[in-house]
Amino acid sequence: MAVLVTGGAGYIGSHMVLSLLKEAYEVVVVDNFCNSSPEALRRVCSIAERECSVVEGDIRDEAFLDKVFKENDITEVLHFAGLKAVGESVSAPLKYYDNNITGTLTLCRVMQRAGVRNLVFSSSATVYGDAKNMPISEDCPTGTPTNPYGRSKLIVEEILRDVAKSDPEWSIALLRYFNPVGAHESGLIGEDPMGEPNNLVPYVAQVAVGRRPRLSIFGGDYQTKDGTGVRDYIHVEDLVAGHLAAMKKLATEKGAKIWNLGTGHGSSVLEVVEAFQRVSGRDISYTIIDRREGDIPECWADPSHAKKELGWAATKSLNDMMADTWRWQSKNPDGYRS
Ligand code: NAD
Ligand code: WQD
Repeated sequence: MAVLVTGGAGYIGSHMVLSLLKEAYEVVVVDNFCNSSPEALRRVCSIAERECSVVEGDIRDEAFLDKVFKENDITEVLHFAGLKAVGESVSAPLKYYDNNITGTLTLCRVMQRAGVRNLVFSSSATVYGDAKNMPISEDCPTGTPTNPYGRSKLIVEEILRDVAKSDPEWSIALLRYFNPVGAHESGLIGEDPMGEPNNLVPYVAQVAVGRRPRLSIFGGDYQTKDGTGVRDYIHVEDLVAGHLAAMKKLATEKGAKIWNLGTGHGSSVLEVVEAFQRVSGRDISYTIIDRREGDIPECWADPSHAKKELGWAATKSLNDMMADTWRWQSKNPDGYRS
């Protein structure tokens, strides 16, 4: 019996694989390495002191995926594979819809043929759009995502709800992540963006380590606690624990379920910068510039549904998140190429 992790070499997937190995699961990873390095999985196996099976390939390749299911006794799937750069999705929408939607459709067809119907999907708080009331609970209506990436997540959620409705044997978790950050405490695996980071915390970390001269803060005039954007940052290790809890829940629950994975606490950009300076002892130069198009002012989760139904809650503080990011970035200033 094995868990298939699509996109298992990526930032969140690699932390997930490590946690599964530690929990004694057999793990099969499928990844085409379009946004990751095989080195991440070598390090995961070395930390866990166990092996996982790594199969290089694309989830849109149906014959390839059929073979993976035939050759392994897969009982559940954690589906992380996808493209996630918001800005790139605006300039290359077809690439994003193809990878994120066609990829998931292909995976579901193959799962159906193989008789595997337990699926955990990486969704995003972006499906709520610009929600007016905080905190955001799962019954808050989904909004209008401002970019093709966000729309691809919303479309896949709807497809998966239809799939679950069509056949009562399916058990599907739609996990809406808030802002995953941080790294494994070993400092051996972490987020390693290719090119200029799109997200705040990897950017701050690269400024701290001297790879970038300064951070641009997108907007200082929001109606928030200090004028900068507010988000619910969640440690990747907490996020991974939420997946394990959801995966276990699917063993006894049918249908499609939605759970927010957030801490319930919002931090501003300036609070993130201050926390990073505190834990790293490095000065983070920044300039406040215009707002970034498509950004919302604030967003944080009501995580009580996941607490009640999964017995899961985030445990790590903003300081923990920044300290672990710093350990990873300072040990690996050039990521997996260090
Ligand atoms: P990531 O880019 O680090 O990992 C994705 C992995 O999927 C990479 O290893 C990539 O090579 C692989 N991949 C992409 N397309 C593939 C394909 N067609 N076939 C096989 N492998 C493929 O991203 P991440 O941050 O680990 O995110 C994982 C998932 O979580 C994504 O679906 C993302 O949209 C979602 N998510 C991420 C965040 C975030 O802020 N990191 C927030 C919400 C949701
Ligand atoms: C956080 C805050 C920025 C960079 C994105 C996706 C979302 C999800 C997570 C996948 C905001 C500010 C950022 C910088 C800055 N991904 N910022 N300077 O925008 O909340 O969410 O990643 O699903 O779908 O949209 O995250 O880290 O980009 O931004 O001032 O260089 O930091 O304006 O207030 P975001 P982020």
